[in-house]
Amino acid sequence: MTVLLVSGTSTGVGKTVVTAALAAAARTHGRTVAVCKPAQTGVGDDRPGESDIDVVERLSGVRGIELARYPEPLAPDVAARRSGRPMLELAAVVDAVLALDETHDLVLVEGAGGVAVRLGAAGFTALDIAAAVGASVLIVAGAELGTLNHSALTVAAVRAADVKCSGLVIGSWPTEPSLAARVNLEELPLVTGVELIASVLDGAGLLDEKEFGALARTMFGEFTDSLLG
Ligand SMILES: Nc1ncnc2c1ncn2[C@@H]1O[C@H](COP(=O)(O)OP(=O)(O)O)[C@@H](O)[C@H]1O
Ligand SMILES: [Mg+2]
Repeated sequence: MTVLLVSGTSTGVGKTVVTAALAAAARTHGRTVAVCKPAQTGVGDDRPGESDIDVVERLSGVRGIELARYPEPLAPDVAARRSGRPMLELAAVVDAVLALDETHDLVLVEGAGGVAVRLGAAGFTALDIAAAVGASVLIVAGAELGTLNHSALTVAAVRAADVKCSGLVIGSWPTEPSLAARVNLEELPLVTGVELIASVLDGAGLLDEKEFGALARTMFGEFTDSLLG
């Protein structure tokens, strides 16, 4: 029974695509996988196909559950307050994740934004979820200039919360990488002390389920196997 929390250095770095790739890789290795998105913002109730769980299901074929949705594209706690909908509670997230953990080999939990983003009541964060369920954290980072700083700060925050950081992933690797991007491949592990697991090619999120699954297995097969033992 393994729970992995997928967080990142910011919003838009590729957490959802990486979550889908991890799900696809584990699934094609015969494992049962579930995905949980505790708080989805920026998607209205009338927008089928646009939530992170919809994207994960389309790319990986793995089912997911969303615990709360707030239409405005804001941090979940702010969006919750403005929507008048109930604020997500840490205990509800922990219960949902542990229930999935009972019946699946791997549970992937996708945060919102980065590790300091407040997801709900009393300002709990993705790191509070990880600490409560004993999950390790995978950090999705950008490829370009600035990512060394964002990644180092993020990993420092994970460590300060006494949560294990199981790796870094570049969410979208450019087809024509700049000098900074190429150098960052070597520098990211050095400045963070965390292994770079994979770089997901830009455009991977546009593949169909079969092509995406094959790519996911190449990129993450070894990682998910070692994670699941
Ligand atoms: N490897 C990739 N291939 C194609 N599109 C990508 C890739 N990584 C990110 N994107 C696109 O960039 C945007 C943000 O990615 P997403 O996975 O939703 O980030 P996050 O979950 O961190 O907010 C989306 O429109 C997504 O489709
Ligand atoms: Mg996402």
